[in-house]
Amino acid sequence: MKVTVAGTGYVGLVTGVCLAHIGHEVTCLDVVEEKIEMLKNGKSPIYEPDLEDLMLKNKDRLNFTTNYKKAYKDADVIFIGVGTPERIDGTANLDYVNEVARQISESIDKDTVVVIKSTVPIGTNDRIEEYLNGNIKNGIKVRVASNPEFLAEGTAVKDTLYASRIVVGTEDKIAEKVLKELYLPLTKKPYNVPLLSMDRRSAEMVKYASNDFLALKISYINEIANFCESVGANIKNVTLGMGYDPRIGNKFLNSGIGYGGSCFPKDTKALHWLSKSLDCELKTVKACIEVNKDQKLRLFHKLKNSLYLKDLEVAILGVTFKPNTDDLRDAPSIDNVELLLEYGANVTVYDPIGLDNFKKRFKDRVNYASSINEAIKDKEAVMIMTEWKEIKEYDLNNYVKYMNKANIFDGRNCYDLDDFKNIDAYYVSIGRKDVGSLK
Ligand code: UGA
Repeated sequence: MKVTVAGTGYVGLVTGVCLAHIGHEVTCLDVVEEKIEMLKNGKSPIYEPDLEDLMLKNKDRLNFTTNYKKAYKDADVIFIGVGTPERIDGTANLDYVNEVARQISESIDKDTVVVIKSTVPIGTNDRIEEYLNGNIKNGIKVRVASNPEFLAEGTAVKDTLYASRIVVGTEDKIAEKVLKELYLPLTKKPYNVPLLSMDRRSAEMVKYASNDFLALKISYINEIANFCESVGANIKNVTLGMGYDPRIGNKFLNSGIGYGGSCFPKDTKALHWLSKSLDCELKTVKACIEVNKDQKLRLFHKLKNSLYLKDLEVAILGVTFKPNTDDLRDAPSIDNVELLLEYGANVTVYDPIGLDNFKKRFKDRVNYASSINEAIKDKEAVMIMTEWKEIKEYDLNNYVKYMNKANIFDGRNCYDLDDFKNIDAYYVSIGRKDVGSLK
């Protein structure tokens, strides 16, 4: 099929490349010239494992352009995968989605199925369909279907090809048939992805309900971790014991300094806002947001309660919101570093992938190191913000060897408490007892 995907961010680009991989002719469209130039040269503007390999493998079926008129003109299916960032009041900003709809209405000259993959408030698909059919040439029909995205950054390609499920939301039989045909290869071996058809509003709701549930799971376990500290329990043992219950499961039970990224923070706020506006407030989602806000600064407060921050030499290990991405959106490192600087600490940061993005924001307000060893050298405290493999596998003896004072504040519970048995460091983590004494 001839497919056009609007937006070359995580959702749009990965969708486009994976659809090319299963045999479709795909045009990826973006308004940012530099991104399209990079893509034409085989380079991905986002860091995502396996993506460039797949781009190369399927280059004959992939086109990249900024020319929306050509891209939309005769597409069988158009995916909208542009961002829906959060507005200051927590609502979803639909400007990009609306602009794509406007451009589609100007450009198409045959019946088309428009698929909204961006996360949009319930009812948006209805509104976009109404807009499109009211603004295109007479005689052309647009069918809009919801097809939410469940990929996570860092595993996006795998999450798309071997998806947990494909949700197709439409009441229109023709749109349903087109999407079933489009996704047919993924529903077969080796992928075997279940495809669920449902009404449009439910499909929109599946996305929010899923993300908010996962966020809630994290906030719940973070609160339990904080409580473990008060009662002398160890959160790692508690989650181990909980996870064996298949009704609970052992995923998304890692406590730490809260969730970040481009999805959970905005999707929890958007759904909460929507629920309030409909006079049906989702109180659990509200609590989830509040817990996360506090949790992000929990490690900072532990540090502040232990050490005088003015002129303190602090290393930050990991700045991205999670490992295997260079994404800094809503990363806990940002608020923590801002606060450290406000209190007069001298901050040195290290991250295997995220430093370029961090530099764009913090410029010369912090020092940058090119290795863990360099970052922690002569420091009086280290704060771990992201659980990169390299950090988890770091030789703990080096903290003592290189730091001036080996005070380790671990916001991601990277190490076992027993690992510090023979190491003369002070180790503070989340939901567990502190080990050793302050240096
Ligand atoms: C999330 C969802 O996992 C995807 O299913 C969804 O498609 C995506 O949002 C989206 O809406 O686009 P993502 O934000 O890439 O994906 O990352 P996650 O792996 O879900 O992590 C989100 C945050 O939760 C990270 O800050 C991570 O550190 C934190 N987290 C995750 C925890 O604190 N504990 C956990 O046990 C798991």
